[in-house]
Amino acid sequence: MSTSEEVYAASALDPVETQRLVTEEPAAGAQGSDTGVFDQSTVDRAQAIIARYPQSRSALLPMLHLVQSVEGYVSQAGITFCADQLDLAKAEVSAVATFYTMYKRRPCGEHLVSVCTNTLCAALGGDAIFSKLKEHLDVGHEETAGEPGSPGSITLEHAECLAACDLGPVLQVNYEFYDNQTPEGALDLVKSLQAGEKPHPTRGAPLTDFRQAELQLAGFFEGRDADLDGPSAAPETVRGAKIAADRGWTAPAMPEHAEFPPLPEKK
Ligand code: FES
Repeated sequence: MSTSEEVYAASALDPVETQRLVTEEPAAGAQGSDTGVFDQSTVDRAQAIIARYPQSRSALLPMLHLVQSVEGYVSQAGITFCADQLDLAKAEVSAVATFYTMYKRRPCGEHLVSVCTNTLCAALGGDAIFSKLKEHLDVGHEETAGEPGSPGSITLEHAECLAACDLGPVLQVNYEFYDNQTPEGALDLVKSLQAGEKPHPTRGAPLTDFRQAELQLAGFFEGRDADLDGPSAAPETVRGAKIAADRGWTAPAMPEHAEFPPLPEKK
């Protein structure tokens, strides 16, 4: 079995899609595989990410967010950049990039709008919200209205459960929450984004744009420390914890003899 085949088998991915990312020509609107798009500051950030981990390959997930902060998606160049920085095969990087839905295969808009259409939100109106936005933007799942990255451009996607079922139906813009949505409210929100406005999320930090959010997911918060401290939990979210506290309920303590294996030497 070749290295690539082993990667495919181990990752349970679609090998056709993974191979496409490794070998195929970039999609329309995408950049080539020239890593020159990643300047010295990106290289410095990549090295800072690697320094956080005992083993370099553990840095791959934030590294993929870093390349998305530059190009708005994981391009062929992004895959090559990550592979070079981490001394991995491009197939290994592609296997990871195609496994997680937060890594985008085509350039995203200024904003990424993720509508939860999982069971509970769908039943509460998530499907109707997605249909309304789809009709307004004239795009489908993972498609972008407007030139990707340009002001007011919007990428629309279905999302699986966003872990806010108590506040459904919910959507996210660049992973910030907008709770208890309606089709009309969601449409107003998207129109505001297209007009260059940044309505404050229901909770959490103020809205930025997709690429800035990706930089934060890579662990870089330049100039934003002061405004990242918004409340992230709604009263509904902590109601169970409050009831437990009122009644004196606690979780069992960790066993005293619990031990973790030593970390291996960094390679
Ligand atoms: S089903 Fe939408 S947040 Fe859980």
